[in-house]
Amino acid sequence: MPVIGRLRYLEAAAAGTARPRGTLLLIHAFPLNARMWEPQLALAANGWRVIAPQLRSMDGGSTDQPATSMDEHAGDIVDLLDALHVEDAVVAGLSMGGYIAFALFRHAPRYIRAMVLADTRPQADTPEGVEGRRKMLALVKEKGPGAVADEMMPKLLGEHTRRTRPEVAERVRSLILASSADAIGNAVTALMTRPDSSPLLPSIHVPTLVVVGEHDTITPPALSEQMHQAIKGSEYVVIPNAGHLANLEQPEAFNAAFARFLEHRV
Ligand code: MLT
Repeated sequence: MPVIGRLRYLEAAAAGTARPRGTLLLIHAFPLNARMWEPQLALAANGWRVIAPQLRSMDGGSTDQPATSMDEHAGDIVDLLDALHVEDAVVAGLSMGGYIAFALFRHAPRYIRAMVLADTRPQADTPEGVEGRRKMLALVKEKGPGAVADEMMPKLLGEHTRRTRPEVAERVRSLILASSADAIGNAVTALMTRPDSSPLLPSIHVPTLVVVGEHDTITPPALSEQMHQAIKGSEYVVIPNAGHLANLEQPEAFNAAFARFLEHRV
């Protein structure tokens, strides 16, 4: 994986495309890493340059200078885009990636040409949510990433995927195990201290796609529909037979919705 400054990233571009139509920037979920976007690298075939940053410390990156806020992750992304001479991008974030997209919108909206908000929500954690994060911090410290994987897998994947696609479950588990306990702990701290981004929604005027797995229990469709209503002119797509990781569970339907949005709205 190439590295620039603090960040490593996956990249794909269609062979023979002299001038791409633009850049798709894909921001990954917790507690995964950039490799969760491998099925979406295929979107490069439509003439886009696809970049998926590995958030600081995830998947074996150094934890010397941990990032413990969404703002720090957004700052890393700005540095990466500048280093790659990308003026603006279609910014797609899944779950925690969406929280980081909101931070980017808050601080540096000129980098955002369009947004894809996948299986995410604008609200901050509730007090019960913060309590759950504290328990997860203790769990990862005491028992490590394997225990986090055991706890999260049933929430990350929909019942249909768990029943019919064991290879997806295996893949997700291995993505979680690739990060250290420290890296996962730092990400939990960023999650539990993130601000409420709901007040931003009416000021989002770039083309926006809100997409969610039908059976997502972490960021359920009802919340995505509210978010779609609050972002004027946004599109809303529900992916059948998918849970929280809709891009990995139903990559064809997810990519079709993404490609349609790029074709018609961006
Ligand atoms: C994620 O998928 O990034 C996390 O589940 C988000 C969260 O726990 O709020």
